[in-house]
Amino acid sequence: MAVLETVVIAFWAMLPAYVPNNAAVLAGGGRPIDGGRTWGDKRVLGDGKTWRGTAAGIAAGLALAGLLTVAAPAVSDAVGFAVPEFTLPAAIALAAGAMLGDITASFLKRRTGRRRGAMFPGVDQLDFVVVSLPLTALVATEWFLEWFAWEVILVVVVLTPVLHVVTNVIAYELGLKNEPW
Ligand code: CTP
Ligand code: MG
Repeated sequence: MAVLETVVIAFWAMLPAYVPNNAAVLAGGGRPIDGGRTWGDKRVLGDGKTWRGTAAGIAAGLALAGLLTVAAPAVSDAVGFAVPEFTLPAAIALAAGAMLGDITASFLKRRTGRRRGAMFPGVDQLDFVVVSLPLTALVATEWFLEWFAWEVILVVVVLTPVLHVVTNVIAYELGLKNEPW
């Protein structure tokens, strides 16, 4: 597989997992998922994980998967290789898996004494990949095997932290996020 082709497929296939985090930042607020509950003297998840943000994130990921699926045939023709169309299980696993990964990361942050918004290098950048990819492999196995060749996974693991850092710095500069990570 050519390098450019691998990068395009990796980015395209992961978009429904990338967008939920950004949508959650834009839509976040309201009731926290943990309802304010604590475990020991620390919050279970914290005020940064809300029902509204999570629902908006999943909805945005699903909507984008739909748009990409509609666009895929024309884009494939234009670029000369096939880009993925998303099945419903794949779209749900990518979008919901991304949110679940982000929530799991907050759970780990609170257990390790990190306050809301604290940095957790590595975890912040890859939490959604670590959950969304295995979940997709589990619930949309055929689709996953068709698109996630080992070199695509490699590109995802390298590209995701870079994209994460860049989008979060932009969101911070635009005043949408409190911290640039
Ligand atoms: N957000 C949300 N629901 C989610 C994820 C994010 O409402 N499931 C919103 C919150 O307003 C949150 C913001 O997006 O403050 C930034 O997300 P993130 O960086 O993940 O949360 P933090 O506030 O940094 O909290 P944490 O330390 O738990 O990551
Ligand atoms: Mg944060």
